[in-house]
Amino acid sequence: MAAKLIKGTEIREQILEEITAEVAEIKEKHGVVPGLVTILVGENPASMSYVTLKIKTAHRVGFHEIQDSQSEDLSEDALLGLIDKYNKDETINGILVQLPLPKHVDEKKVLNAIDPDKDVDGFHPVNVGRLMIGGGELKFPPCTPAGIQEMIVRAGVETKGAEVVVVGRSNIVGKPIANMMLQKGVGANSTVTIVHTGTKDLASHCQRADILIVAAGVPGLVKPEWIKPGSCVIDVGVNRIGEKISEKTGKKIAILSGDVDFDAAKEIAGWITPVPGGVGPMTITMLMKNTLKSLKFKLGIA
Ligand code: GUN
Repeated sequence: MAAKLIKGTEIREQILEEITAEVAEIKEKHGVVPGLVTILVGENPASMSYVTLKIKTAHRVGFHEIQDSQSEDLSEDALLGLIDKYNKDETINGILVQLPLPKHVDEKKVLNAIDPDKDVDGFHPVNVGRLMIGGGELKFPPCTPAGIQEMIVRAGVETKGAEVVVVGRSNIVGKPIANMMLQKGVGANSTVTIVHTGTKDLASHCQRADILIVAAGVPGLVKPEWIKPGSCVIDVGVNRIGEKISEKTGKKIAILSGDVDFDAAKEIAGWITPVPGGVGPMTITMLMKNTLKSLKFKLGIA
């Protein structure tokens, strides 16, 4: 194997330790800890397991945490009322409404109701605007892009002047990571191209990439011959391609595959993220970082 593996599971542990230490320091100096509320509407199994992990991680790093689980038939008005309550709650610094929401609820309306200064997901239009402006304006980068940038920096990959190609233009990953990589500053200052389903020749763009970030949701989309030798390949894809019985628990678990043909790509790239264990663990980690940041902004110590 030629490529160095960028392991999200290892970087997560380093960052969570850093956050835990900072939370303890703030608690001692200021007598407060960051507060995170997760709001889950309904019983989507994937959402339930994500929220459980978010709350477990918040507890681990010393946050005040609330898991607010509501029934599937919660009205839009009642949900907006809950958000209003947490917007006004001084003990809460981060509000996360787990997506997707039930069909009778207008997702945009709900996300827009969150106080932008507590929007630790970074999905509110005010925070999207702050990200676009960059520099000191940026408050809460969305968690998956923030995790990607953190992995690139911690792996020691040069980003200044690098050709970055982003495959995918979603609001959650593609568009924000492209914006972040083109800003001035550490872990950025790159020349960025976004490619998508309307792009004429995906391969030729990918072949130019010093850093290739793939968030298309198509298993095996990126072929080994699309990868520039020595480049950094970040695979954001988490595709369920089957099921197996876990050796540990004896329960059925999903078989996951990324958007990149990993086995072939690892022989060509200089760095590569695995699936699972790559970008995935970074998302919740960066949610913790944003929640801590939110309290630091409030205390004037960010
Ligand atoms: N559902 C899947 N990913 C996410 C996420 O990052 N944030 C929220 N709020 N919901 C999600």
